[in-house]
Amino acid sequence: MNSPTSLTVETLTGAAIVPHLPALARLRITVFREFPYLYDGDEAYEERYLRTYVEAPLAAVVIARDGAEIVGASTCLPLSAETENVTAPFRARGLDLSRFFYFGESVLLKAYRGRGIGVAFFEHREAQARRAGADYATFCAVIRAPDDPRRPPDYVPLDAFWRHRGYTHYPDFVCTMRWKEVGAAEETDHRLSFWMKSLSGAPLP
Ligand SMILES: CC(C)(COP(=O)(O)OP(=O)(O)OC[C@H]1O[C@@H](n2cnc3c(N)ncnc32)[C@H](O)[C@@H]1OP(=O)(O)O)[C@@H](O)C(=O)NCCC(=O)NCCS
Repeated sequence: MNSPTSLTVETLTGAAIVPHLPALARLRITVFREFPYLYDGDEAYEERYLRTYVEAPLAAVVIARDGAEIVGASTCLPLSAETENVTAPFRARGLDLSRFFYFGESVLLKAYRGRGIGVAFFEHREAQARRAGADYATFCAVIRAPDDPRRPPDYVPLDAFWRHRGYTHYPDFVCTMRWKEVGAAEETDHRLSFWMKSLSGAPLP
């Protein structure tokens, strides 16, 4: 690890993301393998998934670098560009998708946590959402039972971190995603609940 002064955080859009796709894929696989996601990822799927952020207008990837090495990344795009499983709870409630900006994920190598990069990821993505004219930022997180036996003893949930960023939890606002968990034979459904913040002062739904 280089000295902390060599850490940089930058928002990339469109073609500027392309050279970083393999590094981003590896980072997602490494970080999401841990609890609570327990994702047994594959790089070919990851690179296809990340192409969405190259192609969708107004989408962005925020990258954290230590010198030249990518050590963290965070994604965002207009909710209307997301897949149907993600937009389903919004459509079910008759909400206008064009008012929402969706934050895909934040992944940061363990050695770099607790130094403000996660906060910077939110600031950069909220700036992108505001540039896009969105009223709300939203993201979802996997639901795990508090007594899940796979939960490491030192695991700290991110709920307080998200509340401090101004997000409100909607525990009943749920979507489903499929992925293969570590140790599983095939993909299964996973439930994720949403968090939201008003960026424009518009009342939360
Ligand atoms: C989510 C994640 C990116 C957060 O990253 P992080 O860089 O450790 O977070 P930060 O350091 O910015 O913030 C964490 C806390 O430390 C504080 N902090 C510690 N050192 C800091 C510093 N030098 N400067 C600013 N804040 C600092 C922050 O204020 C924040 O506290 P708060 O919530 O009370 O305000 C990281 O935990 C991660 O990759 N987790 C695994 C993947 C995951 O679950 N992602 C989320 C779902 S997609």
